[in-house]
Amino acid sequence: MTEVSDSLTESADALPTIPRGRTSVFELPTGLMDMAAAGPIHRLRYADGHVGWIVTDFQLCRKVLTMPEFSSRPDLRHSAIHEAIGDGQPPEERPGMFVGMDPPEHTHYRRIVAAALKLGEMRQLQANITERANALFDADADDRVDLVSAVASPLPALVITQLLGVEEEVSHTLASCLERMLSLDSTADQVREMFAIIFSELGEVVTRRQQDGAPGFIQNMIEDGGLSHAEITSIAFQLYTAGHETTTNMIALSYLYLLANPEAAATLKGDERAIADAMEEFLRFFSIIQYGISRGALEEVELGGVTIRPGETITISLPAANFDNGRFPDPYRLDIGRSDRGHLAFGFGVHQCVAQQLARVELTVALRVFLERYGDFALDSYEMKSDTIVHGLTRLLVRQSGTRKP
Ligand code: HEM
Repeated sequence: MTEVSDSLTESADALPTIPRGRTSVFELPTGLMDMAAAGPIHRLRYADGHVGWIVTDFQLCRKVLTMPEFSSRPDLRHSAIHEAIGDGQPPEERPGMFVGMDPPEHTHYRRIVAAALKLGEMRQLQANITERANALFDADADDRVDLVSAVASPLPALVITQLLGVEEEVSHTLASCLERMLSLDSTADQVREMFAIIFSELGEVVTRRQQDGAPGFIQNMIEDGGLSHAEITSIAFQLYTAGHETTTNMIALSYLYLLANPEAAATLKGDERAIADAMEEFLRFFSIIQYGISRGALEEVELGGVTIRPGETITISLPAANFDNGRFPDPYRLDIGRSDRGHLAFGFGVHQCVAQQLARVELTVALRVFLERYGDFALDSYEMKSDTIVHGLTRLLVRQSGTRKP
C-alpha cells in the first residue's frame, strides 16, 4: 500500500506546475507558450499537491467556461499558485459570495449586481473619472513621476471607492489590506486576517449607507430590498477586491506600451474609435489575469481527448487562450488596429466580468487623458511585478518636460 502511494506521489511530483516567470513584460512565460504548443489540455500539479488540469486552447477554454459540469465553488477548486489565495475567495463561507456560486444561486445575485451597476450611472461616472484623471496628472509637477503611484493606482481606487460610497479615510486602510491580501509573499494567516479587516470595514460602510441613505451602488442594492446586510457587504467586497488591481495594471501596461511606441500613440491621439480598438487589443495582449481562472469538476467529463474526474480542478489559461493562433492570427504581435473583441481577458460564460463596462470606461478615460498629455512625457524606467496574480508594473517612471509645469 505504501509503495503504491509513494509511487503516486512521485509521479505527481513529476507533473508540471503552472508556468511562471516572464523574461520580459510583454512576453508570456516560455513554459506556457511551450505547453500551449504541445496540446490543448495538460495535467497540472497544484500548490497543495492536488493533480488537475490546465486548458490552453481558445475554443476549449470557452467551452469549459460554459459547461455546467464545471463549478465555481471554492471548495472544489485548488489554487495553482498559492495555498491560501486561490481565485480571491474568502477562506470561510459568507452569504452573497456569488463569484464562488453556480446557477441558479449565482444568477440570483448576478442579476441584482448587474442591475445596480446601471449603465447610465457608469456613463455619468465618465465625466467624473476624466476630472479625477486630469487632477492626478496635474498633482505631480516633479521632473520625474511614477505613473503607477501617481495615476494608474489611485484612479481605479478612487473610482471603486466612489462607486461603493467608501469614505476617504477608510479607503487608505482598505488599499493597504488589499495589497497585502493579494501578495504571494503573504502567509495563509495574513491573507485571512486581511480578508477579515476588509470585510469588517466594508460592513461598517454598508451600515452607514443604510443610515444616511446616500445614493450610489450600495443604495441601489439596499433599495432592491431582498438582500441582507451580510450579503451586501460580500458583494461590496467582491467588487472592491476585483476592481482595483486589475484596472491599475491595465492602465500601467498600456502607458508603458505607448511610451515605448510613439507611432502608436500618434495614431490613437484624438481618435475615439482607434482608442477603443487599441484598448481591446491591450486587454488581449496583456492578459493580466496571468495564471488564469479555475473550476472544479462536478462529474466525469470527456474533454479534448481526456477524462476529467469529479473533484479535479481545471485551470483555464486566459493568456494561453488569448494567444491561440487558431483564433488570433499572428498572436504575439500587438496590433492596435486588430479590431477583435473576442478575447477572454474578462473571462466567458455566466461569470464573465460583471463590471467590464466600468473597466472599459476607466481604461478609455485613462488612455484619452494620457494621450492628450503625451508630449509631456518620456520613458525613464519601469519595474515589472515579480510574480503576482495580476500581471503588471510596480513602477513606471517618466521624465516630464517643462511644457506643463508652472
Ligand atoms: C481590466 C480590468 C478587469 C479584468 C481584466 C477583469 C477580469 C475578470 C475575469 C477574468 C473575471 C471572470 C472570473 C471567473 O470566471 O472566475 C472577472 C469577474 C469579475 N469581475 Fe472583473 N475584471 C476587471 C475589472 C473589474 C472591475 C473594475 C470590477 C469591479 C468594479 C470587477 C469585478 C468583477 C466581479 C465582481 C467578477 C465576478 C463576476 C461573477 O462571478 O459573476 N472586475 N473579471
